[in-house]
Parts: sequence; structure tokens; C-alpha cells
Amino acid sequence: SERAFVMIKPDGVRRGLIGEIVSRFEKKGLSVVKAELIQVSEATAKEHYGHLEAKPFFRELVDYITSGPSFAMIVEGTAAVKNSRYLIGATNPADAAPGTIRGDYGLDVSENVIHGSDSIDNARIEIERFFIR
Ligand code: GTP
Ligand code: MG
Repeated sequence: SERAFVMIKPDGVRRGLIGEIVSRFEKKGLSVVKAELIQVSEATAKEHYGHLEAKPFFRELVDYITSGPSFAMIVEGTAAVKNSRYLIGATNPADAAPGTIRGDYGLDVSENVIHGSDSIDNARIEIERFFIR
């Protein structure tokens, strides 16, 4: 079955949301098959968000994602990538529907609680980036 890379960002970890968020994936029927509290390095942050390098918020984004521990997970199950993104909700918590993780736990796009890979190819790349090196 399919695998997605999901990561609770430093604001979510600081706010004590790991249990709540893991529970949502479990209740949906997806399995957390690997998980680790990690400190994302500056180099890994810049690689992970390299496609956003030209954005005015890039420095803020790198500072945010490296600001404390993140909870990295491999989530496995049917259409894990698509289903994870549904659970997570829209990028900007202000636009995310209630019932989604960002809709229920976030207020601002600069601290949006959680990451989920956006394609099966990127899931594979991100699992390697965060777990295999
Ligand atoms: P991820 O699952 O984290 O990849 O989010 P996404 O796929 O919903 O959005 P995208 O890949 O386009 O953006 C990556 C991340 O950049 C977002 O999750 C935010 O943390 C951050 N981001 C996007 N837009 C803004 C913005 O306007 N301001 C700030 N400060 N951060 C932003
Ligand atoms: Mg993305």
C-alpha cells in the first residue's frame, strides 16, 4: 500500500498536539509505521523548501521549521498521500475547513502545524530525506 511523509512542525510539537494529530490519522485508518522526533537542520530545511526559495517568506519559513523539534512520520495505507492531505486541509489555516488539522489547530499560514507530501514521488523523496540519511 501507499506511503506518505507527514511531519508535525515545531509549533505543533510545542503546543502538545502530537497525540491529537496522530490519533486523527489512526482513526481515519492510516497507520503510522515509523516516527521520530527530529531537529530539522538549516541545510535540510533549505532543500525541503527549495521550490520556495524565491518567495519573500523563505527566510521566515526556514527559521520556523528549524525553530525546535518536529515529529516526522511515515503514514501508510490506502491512497495515503491524498488521504493525508485531506486530513491536513488547506495550506492557510484561515482557509482550511473545520474538521481538518489546520482548520482546527491553526490561525496563520506562517505557523500551519503540519506538513504532508503532495505526491507519491515527493513522498518517496521526503522519506529518504528525513529518515534514510
Ligand atoms: P506543506 O505540506 O508544508 O508542504 O504545505 P503545502 O503543500 O500545503 O504548501 P506549500 O508547499 O505551497 O508551502 C509550504 C509551506 O510554506 C507551507 O506549509 C507554509 O508553512 C509555508 N508558506 C506558504 N505560504 C506562506 C506564506 O505566505 N507565508 C509564510 N510565512 N509561510 C508560507
Ligand atoms: Mg507542499
